[in-house]
Amino acid sequence: MARSIDVTQEEPAIRQVRNFSELGLAMRAAVEGVEHTLEALIPKPQGPQRRVHEAMRYSVFAGGKRLRPFLVLSCAELFGAERGRALRVAAAIEVLHTYSLVHDDLPCMDDDDLRRGRPTAHVAFDEATAVLAGDALLTLAFEILCSPETHPSGDVRCELAVKLAEAGGSFGMIGGQMVDMQTPGRAPDAGHVVLLQRMKTGALFDFSCLSGAILAGAGAEHRNRLKVYARDFGLAYQITDDLLDAVGSEEKTGKAVGKDVEQGKATLISIHGLAGARDEAEKLVRSAVAVLEPYGAKASNLRDLAFFLLDRES
Ligand code: IPE
Ligand code: IPE
Ligand code: MG
Ligand code: MG
Ligand code: MG
Repeated sequence: MARSIDVTQEEPAIRQVRNFSELGLAMRAAVEGVEHTLEALIPKPQGPQRRVHEAMRYSVFAGGKRLRPFLVLSCAELFGAERGRALRVAAAIEVLHTYSLVHDDLPCMDDDDLRRGRPTAHVAFDEATAVLAGDALLTLAFEILCSPETHPSGDVRCELAVKLAEAGGSFGMIGGQMVDMQTPGRAPDAGHVVLLQRMKTGALFDFSCLSGAILAGAGAEHRNRLKVYARDFGLAYQITDDLLDAVGSEEKTGKAVGKDVEQGKATLISIHGLAGARDEAEKLVRSAVAVLEPYGAKASNLRDLAFFLLDRES
């Protein structure tokens, strides 16, 4: 059975020579800024609806890795956008991502009890509250983007809102989630899996990278480069998520493992096996970093983050 193969015994050269200490420092600094921004933007529990605020805060402040915010900040920095503005966009994508997780875990979807190391929102609260907290996080993302504090230009704010709507909508994350829910029982097909994963996971990574360029007013050539980076990064990210589901631990990932096989999800592991899926992730990471070449050392966080994915345990 594919799941018994131990991928941890592989030691590709890239894993031995890379030193991620600078990346670690940059990620810690990003997390600090993002937590602070989220704290200010998510309502404190109040009024007769305080329960929904409690559930929103419960799900957001549960120790997510804040990877999408880190991408927003790194791409914004690459082109010199103001950090305060980028932090607001980073908060917007993180609350939208958290909504996607709250709904993904519902009994009618993946039916998961553990998320970010804690009981899922519908377990800690109840299903109605989890649905409503997710809805409120989704709408909060747009409220944040459309506020003049995010950018003085209405055109920039509008472009950010449209791009986030596209990434989160039926041709992006929701489209992918729909296909993911319909997949069990179908004969696995790599093209189909790639399409669904680019939508369900890739689209929010696309927005994260592109938004940094939008904030900075970077031109088409730069936007296209970030699009290619994000596209390959996003797919590699979902492949490593699937690998962690197959061979990772609940303790480190903070969520149940072994669910994809149990629920008959179509993943690249179900098609190529563990080693084949890992090779695919490595190829994607190499192609993602190749487009960053013109940026030299200025893009080292983006480059290191992509390689870091391959060894992540959480
Ligand atoms: C989990 O996303 C869902 C996927 C798209 C794979 P993350 O792995 O970024 O989860 P958090 O935000 O750190 O909890
Ligand atoms: C979900 O993919 C991606 C989302 C849009 C939330 P998964 O269902 O594999 O994510 P996990 O493993 O539950 O985090
Ligand atoms: Mg799912
Ligand atoms: Mg899930
Ligand atoms: Mg998963």
